[in-house]
Amino acid sequence: MSASVSLPVVHVLFENPDWLPPLVSGLEAEGFTVNLVELDQGLLDGNAPPADGIWLNRISPSSHTRGHHGAVELAREVLFWLERHGRRVINGSAAFEFEMSKFRQDLALRQHGIDTPRTVLAVGRDHLLQAAATFDGPFITKHNQGGKGLGIQLFDSADELASHLDSGAFDPGPGAKVILQQYIRAAAPFITRVEIVGDRFLYAMQSSTEQGFELCPSDACQLKAAPDVCPIDGGSKFSPSPLTADDPLVQAYIRLMAAEGIEVAGIEFVEDADGRRYTYDINGTTNYSGVLGEQIGIDGMREFARYLKERVVPGLVLVEGAA
Ligand SMILES: Nc1ncnc2c1ncn2[C@@H]1O[C@H](COP(=O)(O)OP(=O)(O)O)[C@@H](O)[C@H]1O
Ligand SMILES: [Mg+2]
Repeated sequence: MSASVSLPVVHVLFENPDWLPPLVSGLEAEGFTVNLVELDQGLLDGNAPPADGIWLNRISPSSHTRGHHGAVELAREVLFWLERHGRRVINGSAAFEFEMSKFRQDLALRQHGIDTPRTVLAVGRDHLLQAAATFDGPFITKHNQGGKGLGIQLFDSADELASHLDSGAFDPGPGAKVILQQYIRAAAPFITRVEIVGDRFLYAMQSSTEQGFELCPSDACQLKAAPDVCPIDGGSKFSPSPLTADDPLVQAYIRLMAAEGIEVAGIEFVEDADGRRYTYDINGTTNYSGVLGEQIGIDGMREFARYLKERVVPGLVLVEGAA
């Protein structure tokens, strides 16, 4: 007996319109109605109940770099409001606080038994230099609230960092929270990114690091970063990874996500010459490479929409017409 299911509206909290088209097409292709909610500015009345439906958080930690200075703080309040009203939120407050802090990501990864590069957080010049002096070899600085390679710079010593701080060129990023992290020399010039939705491994891909540290897979970011390189003509820095769902690292990621309330993520690791894999980035606002997706026959956003339909909707809506 077939049952007709009326699908709920998917409300998308966003600040970067460039990332919307693949998401909206994936959701619409599965029959969802999409309501776009721009969150750079807004008005919130805590007494007013949020609309019914599924709420998807797509606010990025790099939103300030697009002039959207209010997005992260407003999103914090909106997520609280949604959750207090009992709405179903994908990548809600718990996931969002990981998204906004590489320090917290590192803690959670280690607590789940996943290897990470040695990581410390420092605020203020003296503490940055104090932290730098504790690294034996090269280390990297990053903004704690990062994304798109923000604040990423490689240093060989605390003295080198001191000269950089003196130059006045150093930007500590939001909240002046700076991550110092052991630099992992990769065996080959790529990192691996693992895309997971719920408990489903979608695919893993390799991203070449030969052109630098900004590795957002979104097609929109590729065009902006290198307008003269056409990803469709083979200029893409992304290729399929042989990693499979049964790899223990993938299984550990899936367990971490379930335990920490993260439903969608692209998680990155780098492998050293000894074959040891170090995980350093959990991207909740993940984007999928359309070029790679076509190559391997997986439309990431469509898979996400299917996940909503098969796993999230049944917990939400009444099935009409079921015998
Ligand atoms: N500890 C590290 N060792 C070696 N390379 C790193 C390390 N951390 C970051 N990188 C390189 O810098 C890129 C961006 O770092 P990441 O932490 O993912 O920041 P973002 O959130 O800006 O993407 C990585 O994809 C990788 O190529
Ligand atoms: Mg990254």
